[in-house]
Order: sequence, then structure tokens, then C-alpha cells
Amino acid sequence: MRRRLRKILSEVLPKDEVLYVYNSYDIVGDIAILRLTEKAMKHNQIIAEALMGVHKNVKTILAQTGPVLGDFRIRKLEHLAGENKTVTLHRESGCLFRVDVGKCYFSPRLFYERMRIARQVGDGEVVVNMFAGVGCFSIVMAKHSNVGKVYSIDVNPAAFQYMQENVRLNRVYGKVIPLLGDAKEIIKERLCHVADRVLMPLPEKALEYLPYALLALKNTGLIHYYDFEHARKGEN
Ligand SMILES: C[S@@+](CC[C@H](N)C(=O)[O-])C[C@H]1O[C@@H](n2cnc3c(N)ncnc32)[C@H](O)[C@@H]1O
Repeated sequence: MRRRLRKILSEVLPKDEVLYVYNSYDIVGDIAILRLTEKAMKHNQIIAEALMGVHKNVKTILAQTGPVLGDFRIRKLEHLAGENKTVTLHRESGCLFRVDVGKCYFSPRLFYERMRIARQVGDGEVVVNMFAGVGCFSIVMAKHSNVGKVYSIDVNPAAFQYMQENVRLNRVYGKVIPLLGDAKEIIKERLCHVADRVLMPLPEKALEYLPYALLALKNTGLIHYYDFEHARKGEN
């Protein structure tokens, strides 16, 4: 079971130092990814070892040293402890995802959202996933619904390569169709008016790409449009 990081560290660090550590971390396959403040960085080895002590299946600890950036939505990572690697195999909702967390976007926190969408998909639907990454939304959908086809576009060649591998790993050939390129161009060239449902899991580009989501839809259909909601002061 996941435990809050500060609770784990309260046994190995002084109380006032623990406050400089972010409480949450991600576990992707056998890699744990944490964010450390500058002040917490000096304890990075103690923190990494304490985390590995609690999560026996974790083989690698990485620190996220910057925000998620660029068109490929990649985070800068630094190796802290254990095996020096960024490729792992993650299990989610009965699916397997091979991913290089140094070269592709991946968030285990979206597992609930992926299943929530999969449960809405009707029999035989054609779906266009405009920002598919290593294929997580598309593959969960292919495994947990009777979707007809999910055209799954990503502009990052590394993500595309892992998406192809994940299609093989999960045996969803013919259902999940990986496509490499800019969603705008691919929709204009080959996916006009084909979709019952379009997914846009990239808030940063949602508005700019909305006309292409509409172009991908049949006469009627559904768009899953993701945007940022900024919390007001005092709001959680
Ligand atoms: C926030 S990630 C979402 C990934 C995936 N849906 C998931 O749940 O893991 C956004 C993805 O969109 C891709 N991307 C960015 N710009 C794109 C574009 N113009 N066309 C297609 N894919 C794009 C990035 O490479 C990245 O993999």
C-alpha cells in the first residue's frame, strides 16, 4: 500500500527537515519518481533508501528535477538510487505498459480517468485519441470495452515506438492503431469524419486542436476535452 512520504521519513529525518519534502511520489513499474525541494536534496540518499525500504518491488529511485515540459511533455529526471534505468513495465487495470519515463510522458495517476472513459465507450465505436502517449487510454479502452477501433496519434517517436510495443504486449492488434505525427496533420490527411468519440488528453493544446477534433468527428459524437482549472486562494 502507498504511504505518504513524510510519514515514511519521520523515522529517519528530523521533524523540521521532513517538512521540506513533498508528500507524494509516483511509482511506475519498479521505478519510484519523487520531487525534492532544494533543501530536501541534501538528504536525497536517505530519502531514496527509506522509500526502497518500504517498497520492496521498487528497484530504481529517480528525482524529478524540473516541470513536465515541451511538446513531448517529458520531465527531467536524475538518478538517486538503485539500478540506473528509465525503462520499466507498469501494470494497470489488467494491462501492461512498457515505458521509458525519461523519453515519454506517463502518469500512473490517470488510471481512474482511463477506466472512467473506457466504461463509457459503446459497442463498435470508432475513437480518435489525439495525444495517445504510449497508448494507455487506448489500450485500457480496447481491453475494457467493445470499441471498434482506436486511432492513437502521438508526435513523439519514442512514445510511438512504446505504443507499438504495448499493442503487442496487450494483444490489441487491429483495435488500437498507432499513428506517428502531429494530430492536426493526421486528422486532415486521413481521419476526417470517422470518429464517434475523440479524446484530447493534452490541456495545453486543447483549444488550438479543437477544430481538428471536430473535423475527426462524424455528424454526431463526443469529445473528451481536458483543460486546466485554477484553484482560487484557499481552495484545494
Ligand atoms: C499529456 S500526454 C498524454 C499521454 C497519454 N494520453 C497518457 O495518458 O499517458 C500528451 C501526449 O501528447 C503528445 N503530443 C504533443 N503534441 C502533439 C501533437 N501535436 N500531436 C500528437 N501528439 C502530440 C506528447 O508527445 C504526449 O505523449
